[in-house]
This record gives sequence, structure tokens and C-alpha cells, in this order.
Amino acid sequence: MLDVIKTTLKLGLENPVKILHITDVHICEVSPLDEPWQQELMKERIGVFQREANFPEKTPEEFYREAVAFAKEQGALLVVTGDVYDVHTKGNLKKFKELIRGEDMMYSPGGHEYQYQIVRTLEEPDGYGAKMEKQLKEEIDEFNLDFECRTIGGVNIITANNALDYYPDYTVNKFEETLKNGLPTIVFSHDPLDDKLLNKREAYHENVKITKQEYEISHRMLKELIAKPQVVTTFTGHHHISRDYEIEGKTHYITGGLFKGVCRLIEII
Ligand SMILES: [Fe+2]
Ligand SMILES: [Fe+2]
Repeated sequence: MLDVIKTTLKLGLENPVKILHITDVHICEVSPLDEPWQQELMKERIGVFQREANFPEKTPEEFYREAVAFAKEQGALLVVTGDVYDVHTKGNLKKFKELIRGEDMMYSPGGHEYQYQIVRTLEEPDGYGAKMEKQLKEEIDEFNLDFECRTIGGVNIITANNALDYYPDYTVNKFEETLKNGLPTIVFSHDPLDDKLLNKREAYHENVKITKQEYEISHRMLKELIAKPQVVTTFTGHHHISRDYEIEGKTHYITGGLFKGVCRLIEII
């Protein structure tokens, strides 16, 4: 059974808006076309998540399907903030496509969608980041991975990519453009605002090749998310544990991993 956390945001809307936030599913699928070492890696990773979730009664995929059904039953918009699968295997990609087919949802990737070989994003072979990014955008073309906004019931519901520990220029520009409509805004991303790597101000690994200027732009967005009254709050994942935290008087929310059965039903009223 799902462990549903309930969060209510009071904005004085005429008609309430419901969102189901899910994150960190960590599906570990392989296909016969994947390399033998990937088959081994996925077996090992299934065990990692089973232990982390204390051996739940359902698989990540079963929890995912249950959450999709629950969102429909609730009339809630499904918003997914990444780490849907654990490593970019052919099996996982096929499964991901099967799971999103025909579903109406918003999606922002996590670091694991960019992982190819091993499970520490930043230690992958040189140049993998750009390669994976290109591949992802080609293969999952159902979504704009960097930025999407739906204005529902007078609220901007945004997905903003920060999966590689920074907000790309494109994302920041789109975000700032959207804020011009003056509507209350809720932002969904993978990394929490207080994440250590998201708060770095200079390149910390050769695989994250972004310029000083790009870092400044990313920090501009971070600052706007924290300080602009128009930004009501953010919902993120990544830590696999649910937590609320406060920065400059504003409460932000982290939703635990769906591989543990956790999801968050948000009601904006
Ligand atoms: Fe995760
Ligand atoms: Fe993550």
C-alpha cells in the first residue's frame, strides 16, 4: 500500500488544484541487449533498494503503477521528479517509455537518468554528461526535460531541471519569463534547494563542464526560488526520505522515494 503524505497549500483559490508528487522510483530493468556487466549491476542494485526500503511488499514498478492509479482516482496531476530508473540501460529505458505511454504527467529528470555505467554520477567516463544528455533528449521526447509550465487554477506549476546539480541557462530564462505573469508559482525539481552540490559555485568535477557565468545564472535561480514571494514553495526528491525544511521563512518539501511506497498528495486551496 502507498504511504501518502498530505500537504495543503493555502493560496485562496476558487477551485482547489490537486497534485500527486512522486520521485525516486529507481526501477532496475535490463533487456537481453544490455551488457552482461549491466545485468549484474542491476541485480545488485535491486538488492540495494530492497534493503533501503526494508523489503517492501511491492516492486518499484508496482508502486509506480499504484501511484498512477491513485492520482487518477484523486483527480490529481501527476508530477515526477526523476530517478525513475537507476541506470540508463536499454531495459530501463524501454520500461520507462512503457510506463509513461498515454499518461498525462509532468516530469523532471534526476541524476540517475543520466547514469550510464556506474552509480556515482560524477565518476562516469569523461564526456559522458553531454552524451547522456543528448541521448536522453532524443529518447524521451515526450517531455521538455529542462522546463515545463502548466498554469492550472491560476497557479504556475513548473518542472525545472537541476539533475546535474545546476539550473541550465535555458531553464532559468524560461522560469524568469514565466514569473512575469505574476501568478503564484510552485516548482518541482530533483535536487532540494539545500543540496550541497546544487549550492557549489565553481566546477567541482571534470564531467560537469559549466562555466563561471553558467554557475552565476544557476545561483540567480536558486536565489529567486528562495527569496521571491511569488514562488510559494518547491517540491523535490533525491534524498529518498521525506523532509520539510525552511529557508528564509519559506517551507520547502522533499518527498521520499517511491521505491519505499512513499508519495505526496498536494492540495492547493
Ligand atoms: Fe534517487
Ligand atoms: Fe538523486
